[in-house]
Amino acid sequence: MQKIVVTGGLGFIGSHTVVELQNEGFEVLIIDNLSNSNIGVLDGITSITGKKPAFFKIDLKDKQKVAQFFKENKVDGVIHFAASKAVGESVHEPLKYYENNIATLIYVLQEMNKNKVTNFIFSSSCTVYGDADEFPITEKSPIKKAENAYGNSKQIGEEIIADVTKVKNLNAIALRYFNPIGGHKSIKIGELPLGVPQNLIPYVTQTAAGIRKELSVFGNDYETHDGTPIRDYIHVTDLAKAHVIAMKRLFEDKQKAKMEYFNIGTGVGSSVFDVIKTFEKVNDLKINYKVVDRREGDVTAYLADVSFANTELGWRSELTLKDALRSAWLWQEKQEIK
Ligand code: UFG
Repeated sequence: MQKIVVTGGLGFIGSHTVVELQNEGFEVLIIDNLSNSNIGVLDGITSITGKKPAFFKIDLKDKQKVAQFFKENKVDGVIHFAASKAVGESVHEPLKYYENNIATLIYVLQEMNKNKVTNFIFSSSCTVYGDADEFPITEKSPIKKAENAYGNSKQIGEEIIADVTKVKNLNAIALRYFNPIGGHKSIKIGELPLGVPQNLIPYVTQTAAGIRKELSVFGNDYETHDGTPIRDYIHVTDLAKAHVIAMKRLFEDKQKAKMEYFNIGTGVGSSVFDVIKTFEKVNDLKINYKVVDRREGDVTAYLADVSFANTELGWRSELTLKDALRSAWLWQEKQEIK
């Protein structure tokens, strides 16, 4: 049984990926510092899969601890999620983002190299494309200057990994996620934002639950069918499965290059109004909202061309926006009961 380290394995995407890895028979070791996650997620994962993953409370900024972990645990691959991800915060706290997202990546890669661990999957983002000019976005679309420190940390992260693969025994895949949403069908794990949500879907569910008074729709004067920005919302379970397929690709030596990049989205674009309407319909609820000014740094659209992931990686999304918005609401309801 291959052993996979999942950094940030108690976070939103990490926890769903741990479930899919365990379902496929991999042994998982989670590293998480609990800075933006909850230890209770471990019970959710255990209850879904029937197996408790090993858990290590390690802050990856602690270089010595990272070294000790890799020395003491012989592993076959690493999926690196652990990072800060609030776009707005990254503008005001750039050093936090470069330390959390770049320094930790370097420490992990150094220890993988020292301990001859050669398989690496990097949690990247559609933000690497910046304010794209053409849609849908393919992997060959230009990497434009990042709009914020978060996006820049993902661009730099990809470059660091690519440089290492050129000279060291490292095979890597960067998965560029579009907008991950939804939760596991068991409703035992889901998205758990701390404080006021920054992202659309948790804000919508908390508004529906009465925790927030109303949703602010950030601008309706974009050049789209209804004036609100378009995103490619991808169900987190589909996204999690892409990681399992990518890890198998590394183990089975199917790579065409030592560093590969794949867009992970659905190829379907939805506006903010489309999301609100679909949420209201599938859950039979009404959302209070008002249109306010545009949010700084937002782009008109992100839409993935997923043909390369379909044909080369052999992955495609199966779940829909409706599935995601239904599971997001069921998860939110469960939080209220607690
Ligand atoms: N939006 C609102 N009101 C809100 C929140 C969001 O109208 O209260 C709109 C935004 O303007 C945007 C859309 O909903 O048009 C989606 O916004 P999100 O904040 O949910 O996500 P982003 O598209 O801004 O995604 C960014 C980065 C991703 C990153 C993600 C998570 O592009 O790479 O934030 O932090 F993963």
